[in-house]
Amino acid sequence: MITRNTFECSSCGAQSSKWSGRCLDCGKWGSLEEAVREARSEKLGARSRPAKTTVFADVRGHDVPRIPTKIAEVDRVLGGGIVPGSLILLGGEPGIGKSTIILQIAQGIATRDPFSVATENGSPNSSPSTTVLYCSGEESAEQIKMRLDRLGIKGRTTHYCGETDIDAIIATIREQKPSLAIVDSIQTMRSAEVQSEAGSITQVRAITVRLLETAKATGIPIVIIGHVTKEGSVAGPKTLEHLVDTVLYLEGDKSHMYRLLRAVKNRFGALDEIGVFEMQSAGLQEVQNPSKVFLDEHETHTSGTVVTVAMEGSRPFLVEIQALVTKTVFGYPQRRADGFDTNRLQLLIAVLTERAKLSLGSYDVFLNVAGGFQITEPAADLAIALAIASALKNTPLTQKTVVFGEVGLGGEIRRVPLDEKRRAEAKRFGYTSVIAPPEVRSLTDALKKITSLSS
Ligand code: TYD
Ligand code: MG
Repeated sequence: MITRNTFECSSCGAQSSKWSGRCLDCGKWGSLEEAVREARSEKLGARSRPAKTTVFADVRGHDVPRIPTKIAEVDRVLGGGIVPGSLILLGGEPGIGKSTIILQIAQGIATRDPFSVATENGSPNSSPSTTVLYCSGEESAEQIKMRLDRLGIKGRTTHYCGETDIDAIIATIREQKPSLAIVDSIQTMRSAEVQSEAGSITQVRAITVRLLETAKATGIPIVIIGHVTKEGSVAGPKTLEHLVDTVLYLEGDKSHMYRLLRAVKNRFGALDEIGVFEMQSAGLQEVQNPSKVFLDEHETHTSGTVVTVAMEGSRPFLVEIQALVTKTVFGYPQRRADGFDTNRLQLLIAVLTERAKLSLGSYDVFLNVAGGFQITEPAADLAIALAIASALKNTPLTQKTVVFGEVGLGGEIRRVPLDEKRRAEAKRFGYTSVIAPPEVRSLTDALKKITSLSS
């Protein structure tokens, strides 16, 4: 049999055919290890036994049973609760609140009715456990206890395990049979089978595979917590996305209180569902009315302020956009945006200049999306354009007006998805006037809608 040697970086997983002292991909020194692979021979396939197949018509479908977490926003994002035997990855920046939310979920599960796991035929689950196993390589039991006190959680059925060896953790899970096991965080765990240091790609991947096997074999759901940096990943949870059943991300701006829990992959529920939370002194609190939150600061009626309806998954939000336009004092005019893509802002300014004849060449433009919200959809284009125009002309929009629509390069305004939903949300909050397509078809049309703005 032919064998071929390759070299793999234990830090980033990059492969090369030659050894070198430094990984050419991630730049780490001394991380390349030899990986011996057996080259596949054609004959191998011929020797294997064929697998059994089934006709779909004979497969009986059934509802997936779920363990409710008792936090409505979390359950919604998960598609109704945690599925037994599933592996969930909870990612987010350090300090965003992952450990906090998982302890709150643990509490919800620990205090639920033990017979609330509905099984296929409606009979109670065979192991009505309400215990939760919390394995932490990050904090001591005392540190977590302090956090629990802060959250007002007694923790009678939540067991702490300060182990970082994955084999010991798996043995504990198999012995204790908790209703949920948590591994916080994957970057601190080690598998003795893998040589490289904790947190490296090979470690993180090997541990995930072991936990996946454990979850499937025991039917116990496992949550893996993984740190992600702004840039994407450190030995990335991103590379684990294809291994796990569900990927949740906890997002938000640390300088603001709002946190969004987002499902970016879910084998058992809808994608792009989001849950909205507010970080308070007693943990993360659910926000039932997100529009109210992002609008709270909208008290004054000033120029440069426009309210738009943004969509996150299937949920509409009223969000306030603020623009400030000032004369450029020196050099090139500045364009800055917080919560919105700067390149898109520059494009919109160019369209305003060319198509609506607003001269912004000697003005600095600053844009801010209130409440730390991030807008990624083009549906906010028109609101941004009008905010800039309103700031430039120092004329506020008529009160109780929402604006949305995509702005094209020709200054035309295009319809955006979920138009009905956006209008309904605006109405719910008493916004009686809507500036959006098809009522307005071009940027000049829209500008005329604003009293005295185009004069
Ligand atoms: P944490 O859950 O430790 O973040 P992660 O596990 O994602 O690293 O959250 C840390 C932040 O949350 C910390 O800055 C303090 C804040 N916090 C509150 O504001 N209220 C609370 O009740 C708790 C427990 C934490
Ligand atoms: Mg933590």
